[in-house]
Amino acid sequence: MRRLIAGTGWKMNNGAAAARRYADELKPLLAGIEHGPVDLYVLPPFTSLPAAAEAFAGSPVAIGGQNMHWQDSGNWTGEISAPMLVEAGCRYVELAHAERLQHFGETYAQVNLKVRAARRAGLAPIVCLGESADDKSAGRADAVLAEQLLTALKDVPAEGVPEIILAYEPRWAIGVAESATPDYITARHAVLRGLLGEHFGAAVADQTRIIYGGSVTPENGGPIIALDDVDGLFVGRAAWQAAGFARIVALVAAAAANKNKIPAQVAGIRP
Ligand code: PGA
Repeated sequence: MRRLIAGTGWKMNNGAAAARRYADELKPLLAGIEHGPVDLYVLPPFTSLPAAAEAFAGSPVAIGGQNMHWQDSGNWTGEISAPMLVEAGCRYVELAHAERLQHFGETYAQVNLKVRAARRAGLAPIVCLGESADDKSAGRADAVLAEQLLTALKDVPAEGVPEIILAYEPRWAIGVAESATPDYITARHAVLRGLLGEHFGAAVADQTRIIYGGSVTPENGGPIIALDDVDGLFVGRAAWQAAGFARIVALVAAAAANKNKIPAQVAGIRP
């Protein structure tokens, strides 16, 4: 049984003071939600990490970075390393977000170095995967996803793969009005899970969480998180305010309650 997960990347929003306000607003809202079976994370900008770590300490919300370098230290002006994120209180690190690839020229070969560095430091990588609009219209989506996945996970031992969260984020569905459709998401998640099975074994495919991101809102998130192969929601704009994230958490918590239901026959319960 895969634990569901709900998270938000703040991108370049919410400085330290706003991060504290967000935590102060979110914590009481979470108290009213049965979120026990759901992992929760927020990814603040680097300068907000200490404030967020302090404000969320003792709460169910873990924090993470939005990027990192693959070396632990050295002559890399302007960069942040995995051990620095750990020291700042992070449990997660997001890698390969479409905006990093698009605006900063990051490659999946670099992402692979970062995945391995994150694991060495004890961080759980959240690795984004997604085809562009051109890839989609040329019918290349699945080939592109395969290339991204296998490059990102190169030389990662099979037993380490389930600690990595795969975030399917079609690039054409980020920051726009509509998410991908449930049918489209189902097909892409099936491809990714199939690749995990083929390259790392059935148990790894069964244990590894694949979450969806791209224009998720409280309105469209319900049918997406209800899909069998979707193990979480990764949200941008709709969760930059605490109240929005709380609504997403409530959706994922409700889905967890449904997905965790053991059919009566299996549980040996007579109707
Ligand atoms: P969005 O961002 O929800 O605002 O589309 C998603 C993301 O970039 O992960």
